[in-house]
Amino acid sequence: MCGIVGAVAQRDVAAILIAGLKQLEYRGYDSAGLAIISADKQLHCLRRVGKVEKLQQAVIESPVFGGTGIAHTRWATHGIANETNAHPHISHQQIAVVHNGIIENHQQLRQQLIEQGYTFSSETDTEVITHLTHFHLQTTETLLEAVQKTIKQLQGAYGTVIIDKNDPEQMIVARSGSPLVIGYGLGEHFVASDPLALLAVTRRFSFLEEGDIAQISRFSVKIFDAQGDPVKRDIVESQTSNESNDKGQYKHYMLKEIFEQPLALQRTLAGRIQQHKIAPDCFPNEKLQGIEHIQIIACGTSYHAALVARYWFESLAGISCNVEIASEFRYRKSVTPKNSLLITLSQSGETADTLAALRLAKQLDYQTTLTICNSPESSLVRESDIAYMMKAGREVGVASSKAFTVQLAALLMLVATLGRQHQLSADREKQIVEALQSLPAKIEQVLAMEQQIKQLAEGFADKHHSLFLGRGEQYPIAMEGALKLKEISYIHAEAYAAGELKHGPLALVDADMPVIVVAPDNELLEKLKSNVEEVRARGGLMIVFADKNSGFKSDDTMQVLEVPHCDPIIAPIVYTIPLQLLSYHVALIKGTDVDQPRNLAKSVTVE
Ligand code: F6R
Repeated sequence: MCGIVGAVAQRDVAAILIAGLKQLEYRGYDSAGLAIISADKQLHCLRRVGKVEKLQQAVIESPVFGGTGIAHTRWATHGIANETNAHPHISHQQIAVVHNGIIENHQQLRQQLIEQGYTFSSETDTEVITHLTHFHLQTTETLLEAVQKTIKQLQGAYGTVIIDKNDPEQMIVARSGSPLVIGYGLGEHFVASDPLALLAVTRRFSFLEEGDIAQISRFSVKIFDAQGDPVKRDIVESQTSNESNDKGQYKHYMLKEIFEQPLALQRTLAGRIQQHKIAPDCFPNEKLQGIEHIQIIACGTSYHAALVARYWFESLAGISCNVEIASEFRYRKSVTPKNSLLITLSQSGETADTLAALRLAKQLDYQTTLTICNSPESSLVRESDIAYMMKAGREVGVASSKAFTVQLAALLMLVATLGRQHQLSADREKQIVEALQSLPAKIEQVLAMEQQIKQLAEGFADKHHSLFLGRGEQYPIAMEGALKLKEISYIHAEAYAAGELKHGPLALVDADMPVIVVAPDNELLEKLKSNVEEVRARGGLMIVFADKNSGFKSDDTMQVLEVPHCDPIIAPIVYTIPLQLLSYHVALIKGTDVDQPRNLAKSVTVE
């Protein structure tokens, strides 16, 4: 997490830094700050609690001039979100540092530095980098050497940029575990956590690799690898479109992104279907020959998509499939069955745990690795053997919406592709393809339910707890519905497989605990109905999103919202939409910050 931007230029860079930070707010928005070296070699630092807008206002009120500067938007790890903990951190009014990541041995380093006479003004782990660099600078000739010595002492993850007011023509950047990209301009250079931050000033980038340190001045970029040897990193032209990023007619990005789903699905399907089949070049068949087992790794919403896919892989394709949360997988010893495919799912492609899990898997016996990802220039895409680009378009709202449904469509295409080598018949593939093709129109129909869902939300917003129920592949959809509700409305929500209710959670059910049920017309419908009766018998109030043929009817204990009938194969995708809209409208009534909910960030680049 945390977003970093840096620049060395002849022009004033404050506006470039602020514009860059605005693009990086998805990485954190607790506080923001910048430090700029002015022409008279003074270090000017401004920090504000809250979003980048506050910092921008501060810069308007007290302009800062200078061509070398660094900036940061924070997602707090060590120390609360206040001004003293905001970056940049400064040592002796000389060294300024921004950092993304976690320095795990910061306490030990802090103690050593205190013994050397350094005073700490923040609770952050980052401040040790600042003082340590200052400390080494007393015995080294250059800032580069001081940073190299500092880095050797750090344990943990960092993407960091360091400037020295006495050496204003350069910045030193270092990466281990947290991404950094160098942007190449004419007579000016930049650095950022994500190329997105720099698209307004350049489209030429090189991505630093693990352990790299770079010395960046206006006219040169020198990169050294983990051993300290000079290296070249390719300069590539960014493929990311600098698409306008406004909310259009919508009040929030999240609502815009919910309504963009038909288009996002059309984009992901375009060119990938040929004559009732998934096109041969959708996934490179030669690398996937002989796959007998699948392991999917992901976090959060992406993990829920993986859980749905497990049902599909096993029931449609006849391929065994395990799903695991990345932060668990990466720290346990697992057995890799023969001929296994490792799949990572990620909107951002930079989720630290998912990336670490991929790197671990590469040392295990996987036949190949595939990522389904929405960010073409991300670490997951660069490091996986095969990359499926989701083409969902940029997702700005912190709560994932369109990325989830597009991930599901991509997974269904993979199920069909791999299923051909197993039990999937041509007829069944045709059925999957037709179901996928019907999705955009089907989702349009569900989006038209918005007004009904809005009314429903009114009876919901004063509740403190809720339960989401589903069976089969709708169980992960219930999990996703609960996650959406809790993250944007702050209402406690839990999801259960409906059959599990009587094993404990039924004790929670009363009139103050709304129970949300997803009930498509599938072979588990009758079982689900029995579970619904169990809730009704305990005085529970239910909201049921049900197929119009399901037989559910509204009464005193149950509000039924009819969802258009769809092929059960795509029902998980279709039933996601009303749950997204419900969360959105509950959050709207509660007045929370829908697009940037408290304590969260869009790209989780720390573990
Ligand atoms: C929830 C949400 C998160 C992400 C998770 C993984 O709405 O957005 O749970 O799904 O942090 O992120 P990616 O998909 O970027 O790896």
